[in-house]
Amino acid sequence: MITAIHEAHVAIRSMQHDDLAIISDIERRSYEFPWSHGVFRDCLLAGYQCIVLERNGEVVGYGILSVAAGEAHILNLCVELDFRSMGYGERMLDEILFRARTSSVRDIFLEVRPSNKNALALYRRKGFHKVANRPAYYQARKGREDADVLVKKLTTDDQ
Ligand SMILES: CC(C)(COP(=O)(O)OP(=O)(O)OC[C@H]1O[C@@H](n2cnc3c(N)ncnc32)[C@H](O)[C@@H]1OP(=O)(O)O)[C@@H](O)C(=O)NCCC(=O)NCCS
Repeated sequence: MITAIHEAHVAIRSMQHDDLAIISDIERRSYEFPWSHGVFRDCLLAGYQCIVLERNGEVVGYGILSVAAGEAHILNLCVELDFRSMGYGERMLDEILFRARTSSVRDIFLEVRPSNKNALALYRRKGFHKVANRPAYYQARKGREDADVLVKKLTTDDQ
């Protein structure tokens, strides 16, 4: 018997206002302290580089990059729970790195909870390293949680 394996069709495109409802749903399912719909709307209005990853035509992930004063900052990167560990986070990160490079910035920064082992593993694999600690940066169940600040130097030939 021949079994046909149909690979999912995956595409990354710029985020549109019409995507915000599904993005807010994914966000609520993914974070204990999610961004509101309004924060995503403001990112679009501010002209940040906002992307979504579609799997078979359905949005299952998103990422947001701000570029200002010669620095790039990843503000959000998220994949719907059912579709994690399939390489989609890395694909969006590659697109974000590409967009940052074409904006001619030298460094790209992000904040991450030290407890977020999955995200840290992905960022380290892509060449980010810790440069600072921001005390009490995040809301937490009990008080606040510090953030690790990670940076990656952007060159034209790295990933
Ligand atoms: C962090 C996050 C975006 C990573 O997304 P992801 O799609 O799971 O990431 P990837 O699949 O690219 O990589 C994750 C793992 O999958 C593995 N993987 C990659 N491609 C794979 C494939 N085709 N098949 C199986 N596994 C694969 C990777 O090796 C990696 O494993 P490792 O971390 O043990 O090395 C996701 O966990 C998430 O949305 N978390 C909640 C939101 C969040 O915390 N965001 C970060 C804020 S700073």
